[in-house]
Amino acid sequence: MDLIIKNGTIISPTETYQADIAVAKGKIAAIGRDFPEERATVVDARDKLVLPGALDVHTHLAMPFGGTVSADGYMSGTRAAACGGVTTVFDYPVQRKGMSILGLIEEKKSICEAEACVDYAFHCCITDLNDGGILTEMEQAVQEGITSFKCFFVYKKEGMMVDDATFARLLLRAKDVGAVINIHAENPDLIDLNIEQFKKEGKMSPWYHYLSRPEYVEAEGDKRAIHWAKNFQSPLYIVHMADKEGLEAAIDAKREGHEIYVETCPQYLEFTSEVYKREDGRNFVCSPPMKGQESQEALWKAIKSGGIDTIATDHCPFQSYEKDWGKDDFTKIPNGCAGIETMYPYMLAAANEGKLSFNKVVELCSANPARIFGCTKKGSLTVGKDADIVIYDPQKDFKITVAAMHSDYDHTIWEGKELHGYPVMTFLRGQLVYQDGKFVGKPGWGKFIKRAGR
Ligand code: URP
Ligand code: ZN
Ligand code: ZN
Repeated sequence: MDLIIKNGTIISPTETYQADIAVAKGKIAAIGRDFPEERATVVDARDKLVLPGALDVHTHLAMPFGGTVSADGYMSGTRAAACGGVTTVFDYPVQRKGMSILGLIEEKKSICEAEACVDYAFHCCITDLNDGGILTEMEQAVQEGITSFKCFFVYKKEGMMVDDATFARLLLRAKDVGAVINIHAENPDLIDLNIEQFKKEGKMSPWYHYLSRPEYVEAEGDKRAIHWAKNFQSPLYIVHMADKEGLEAAIDAKREGHEIYVETCPQYLEFTSEVYKREDGRNFVCSPPMKGQESQEALWKAIKSGGIDTIATDHCPFQSYEKDWGKDDFTKIPNGCAGIETMYPYMLAAANEGKLSFNKVVELCSANPARIFGCTKKGSLTVGKDADIVIYDPQKDFKITVAAMHSDYDHTIWEGKELHGYPVMTFLRGQLVYQDGKFVGKPGWGKFIKRAGR
């Protein structure tokens, strides 16, 4: 054996039990007791929880957006991931109009080969079908392990928006090639209409970012996407769900037996739209925006009842000076916030407080994302899986500060948040990459995850 983690409490989505884990050649070789310790590194996890590494299936690393590029690149973003117990990161490369998606994936793979500190996968964002050429490329992409694609109903001026016809063709094609379509669901015309009105009235503070994209704007997008997916019998994954009405529509469709998945993010569970009234409201500007209390309560309720399948971050940080561009005009604020390092600790601290179970956190942050997106070697601590393991100390207190993070951004919306319980070690395929506040891995240790299709 190469590594033995003993005396810990293992958490799976359905069980909590005491056992030791033996790791050989990067895989979980056995779970039991009294493994021979010669030549193995032995970690005593007494009084600690032993968890599968999280998969953050929604990040935007080095993404050109809003007149700049998101502040975390592949090295710093995946380094921060490791320090927050995330052992697989999914990035969203965005197709430039007219370009090949296969070429884009190759470009991103070669960057990650050198820079990634944890394992990585890509959902490819499609912005242009290239006269149907992309529909052909999708099949090859699936064969190469890219088994999910994304569309945006918004971001016209960024060149990322797709129209309904494109969305429909992608849903149909995804079903044929064994892939799933992820959707950013908001209604672009309603947003434009609201912005036009606010501009006339001189209402340009960050609060109007929320009011230009309130609950009904997101709900329309959710319901439209669900309606099409249901009628085409195509799988659909709704990213960053933040509103109650859309969530309820998704839960209804699931109950009817449709393959609809729902993701939400810690920022929607922690903050409400009230943050946009704060002096630093611009730092919270992301799309969709945080919603009202009622939506937040619905999200928590759906987490408990199974209506939400995954938690991911939508990690897309920008520097303070970039957020400042929109101090007096919310439309100039680059959209997005940080979260890659704080997602698993935040959700685990919520479990530690009794808001949900540790088993549920493992389901939402590891088992479900691995299953939905075809990461067959990830998502649980079972024999034969990759030894992506997090040791969590439920007694360790931690205050989130930008200085304690391992990213390249200069501020975080999570500043000052106190967590009871925190990860103390992360192993990536059996290799220690994080210990007690320090990154101890290496860029290049992360590997591309070739995913299974449906
Ligand atoms: O505000 C956000 N979420 N920025 C990143 C792009 C997206 O919409 O996911
Ligand atoms: Zn989005
Ligand atoms: Zn996103």
